[in-house]
Amino acid sequence: MYYRRGNPPKQAHVDIPEGTVEEEFGRRGFFGKVSHLYRSKEPTAWTNIEGELRPHAFNTEDLDGLNGDDFISGRISMLYNNDVNIQMALLSTPMEYYFRNADADDILFVHRGTGVIDTDFGPLEYEEGDYLVIPRGTVYKLNPTEESAFLVIESTGEVELPEKGMLGRQALFDVDVIKVPTPRPTKETSQTEWQLKIKRCNQITTVTYPFNPITAVAWKGDLTVWQLNIRDIRPVSSERYHLPPSIHTTFVLRNAVVCSFLPRPLETGDPKALRVPFFHSNIDFDEVLFYHDGDFFSRKGIDCGMITFHPQGIHHGPQPGAKESAKKKTHTDEKAVMIDTRYPLYLSPQAKEICQSDYWKSWMGYLKQ
Ligand SMILES: [Fe+2]
Repeated sequence: MYYRRGNPPKQAHVDIPEGTVEEEFGRRGFFGKVSHLYRSKEPTAWTNIEGELRPHAFNTEDLDGLNGDDFISGRISMLYNNDVNIQMALLSTPMEYYFRNADADDILFVHRGTGVIDTDFGPLEYEEGDYLVIPRGTVYKLNPTEESAFLVIESTGEVELPEKGMLGRQALFDVDVIKVPTPRPTKETSQTEWQLKIKRCNQITTVTYPFNPITAVAWKGDLTVWQLNIRDIRPVSSERYHLPPSIHTTFVLRNAVVCSFLPRPLETGDPKALRVPFFHSNIDFDEVLFYHDGDFFSRKGIDCGMITFHPQGIHHGPQPGAKESAKKKTHTDEKAVMIDTRYPLYLSPQAKEICQSDYWKSWMGYLKQ
């Protein structure tokens, strides 16, 4: 069943009729049933928004409690639902205890810093841009050599890799670039007691051992800690067609996906092809973007370390001026992590506290152009 009414272009995202903007109105992110609406006005050209759906933006550096002293109490939740809990964590010195998350898989995205993560499977040296994927139940300990800031995504479902479909199994990144740890004997020290803190139902249980709990000397299997640096992700692009954000999917969680946006060429092969994202209202997904590094030309007033949150039900899309500035560019220069969730996310009190009250106004001004 497919309909067309009015005179829409035959190819979505190309040759948008003069005097209109394109909106993608689609189910299941960018995978399901979809219609494209050609509107005479930007759906974000609002003059006021009252209520919870205002798009939100905040700088994670401003989070109260982000002090680098303790990994558990210093993991500050920003947005959460039953599937994911999106947090920031800062760590200045090595953890004094081992940690096991029995609630969720942890994805630690290293926003900045270097160090070593000791795990049941062995140690890994981490650096900026790494995703460290730690399955639920793994014992680990972070030992920063430089103060480290992590975007933490706790996922109550298993973290998996996406289907690559027609792109082939080696697309975006070959699984061979994923590093896994090799056990290494723990160093002898004068320490006589080791603590393991286990988080279950957000309560902490402390287990004490007379030996270092990292005891594995060998392992085999397909469940382990993964390390993937975003520089090893090779984004797919098209010169003549604006690909949907779902093409940048890195991990699939339960009712959520994690995508990585990396520097890539813009649609320079056809002057009629759309170069900036189409308007959409995420009718089935909440959308969170963490701006890691680069120049976010399509988002005014956004710096590294910031988060934007666009809930289901309210539009977003290019801000005034983005279309014009994209015309002058041939490439994007941004590194960002996106988390899209099937079910609504809730802002934590700490995140609410630091939300920029005027972010929703950044779309105002189309009419003056
Ligand atoms: Fe979006």
